[in-house]
Amino acid sequence: MTILDGKKTSNEIKEEIAEHVKSIISKGKKVPHLAAVLVGSDGASMTYVNAKVKACQQIGFKSTLIELPEYTSEAELLEKIHELNTNNDIDGFIVQLPLPKQIDEQKVLLAIDPDKDVDGFHPTNVGKMTLDLPTFLPATPFGIIELLERYQIETSGKNVVVMGRSHIVGRPISILMSQKRQAGDATVTVVHSRSKNLIEITKKADIIVAAIGISEFLTGDMVKEDVVIIDVGITRVPDATKKKGYRLAGDVHFESVSQKASYMTPVPGGVGPMTIAMLLKNTLLARKRHL
Ligand code: GUN
Repeated sequence: MTILDGKKTSNEIKEEIAEHVKSIISKGKKVPHLAAVLVGSDGASMTYVNAKVKACQQIGFKSTLIELPEYTSEAELLEKIHELNTNNDIDGFIVQLPLPKQIDEQKVLLAIDPDKDVDGFHPTNVGKMTLDLPTFLPATPFGIIELLERYQIETSGKNVVVMGRSHIVGRPISILMSQKRQAGDATVTVVHSRSKNLIEITKKADIIVAAIGISEFLTGDMVKEDVVIIDVGITRVPDATKKKGYRLAGDVHFESVSQKASYMTPVPGGVGPMTIAMLLKNTLLARKRHL
């Protein structure tokens, strides 16, 4: 079994972007500037946003972190988005999800200028993606495509089973992998919480993208020999033997599935770092568009 090393691949991508930044600087032009909005103090969201900001600093992007309190109203957040939309120094920005209950997520995503929507969540960008038009691809699915491409995993004509239909991962990756494109041309099946005879479906999969958010759900008996596994899940599982009191687990039971898989992403160090690298790639694209 070969590990699909997202950490190593994301570092390669970050080095490529850092080279671009150097050339931008040498031409006396403005470096890309990413802003991230975090509402509240959810532990996982704070970790992700801090990792995104740190990655910007590593490669020479400018970054701004906007932290708003948990009780922020929808109107206040919309006002902040308006500011970011109209601030010419900012090339792209993200609003970290999930948002507190009092805020309507769809309203917020609709308010973001599609040209600055480096998460690719605005309906305009989702529509463009669906129609094979150039746009910002959502970072996690984009990262999965890039990882499959760089490891030269054949996807054409393969049975891909996507587990989960979220707007952030399941839905977009199912669209992308069925398209005529690199890491595409696959026969895609989407399974979710209402699917019946799950094992029958997963056992026929050449490639499985697990994005359901249930730790270690996919086990060895559910997959066939030589399956390629992309594990998007990352959950904190209580573990008294760890200093932090928890360990990170994916949606895939690594021990049993790795006995059969040909390629597999680890958790952590698989899809997670790729998501960050692709966000940076989108921000670079946003900067180029604004030139
Ligand atoms: N929450 C989980 N994944 C993401 C992501 O890729 N972008 C944003 N904005 N929020 C998320």
